[in-house]
Amino acid sequence: MSLFRSSTSEIPSSKDVPSHIAIIMDGNGRWAKQRFLPRIAGHQRGVKSLRNVTRHCVELGVEYLTLFAFSSENWRRPKDEVSFLMSLFYSALEREIEQLAKDNLRFRVIGDLSPFDSRLVNLIRDAENRTRNNTGLHFTIAANYGGRWDILQAVRRMLAEHPEIGQSFGESDLAPYLSMNYAPEPDLFIRTGGEQRISNFLLWQLAYTELYFTDTLWPDFDADSLDLAIRSYQSRERRFGRTSEQLVAKT
Ligand code: IPE
Ligand code: IPE
Ligand code: MG
Repeated sequence: MSLFRSSTSEIPSSKDVPSHIAIIMDGNGRWAKQRFLPRIAGHQRGVKSLRNVTRHCVELGVEYLTLFAFSSENWRRPKDEVSFLMSLFYSALEREIEQLAKDNLRFRVIGDLSPFDSRLVNLIRDAENRTRNNTGLHFTIAANYGGRWDILQAVRRMLAEHPEIGQSFGESDLAPYLSMNYAPEPDLFIRTGGEQRISNFLLWQLAYTELYFTDTLWPDFDADSLDLAIRSYQSRERRFGRTSEQLVAKT
């Protein structure tokens, strides 16, 4: 069953630990460059941050963690780097899946997997199936993901299943077809590496997400960095179009 919980119709409190955190893991290349290492060394090191941040999210009781690992535009990178990223994805998943399953995580990949090697796709599907009945953190990797692709594929699938719908569909008709139909919209978005842009990540879902940008490069991002981001989130007032006074009246 898919669920449609739009943050624009409810008021989740920002005082709590965010229920859904979405992260653009950026800055691996620059981390490596600063150390006169090849870019791929930064990607390798980034896996360690991924592990630390995931563990800390479990400790904090975060329910959904969604990480941007490879964008639909990242194919434009040098061929060698793209194939390294693919093999890193494979080896990291192969190595970590046992632990993810043991830690009760629910693993999913969102994105267009059709250009991926069938071995990698099989490994991903297998990992998803193995963790399907777990009840802990929803751990999602966005791979060959693009926010525009997501919206288009949702519209196409909706129209294929409901050709009668014509032009009379609304947000709640489309939402079940979006890749993240199993999750509430992110409460907190984090981008490491200093850039202040969305880079075609979850365009639909980030409509009312609190945005947090840090200069810390992804390989240096750790549990303390995550705490800082959450503290920033907790200091904000989420209004979703309302006035401050309306929010006070509600509490
Ligand atoms: C993010 O780090 C990882 C991916 C996009 C796969 P980058 O590789 O973009 O690192 P910078 O931005 O070049 O430092
Ligand atoms: C965004 O990072 C994608 C991922 C982290 C997977 P990029 O480094 O590709 O983004 P741009 O190109 O600087 O916007
Ligand atoms: Mg980058």
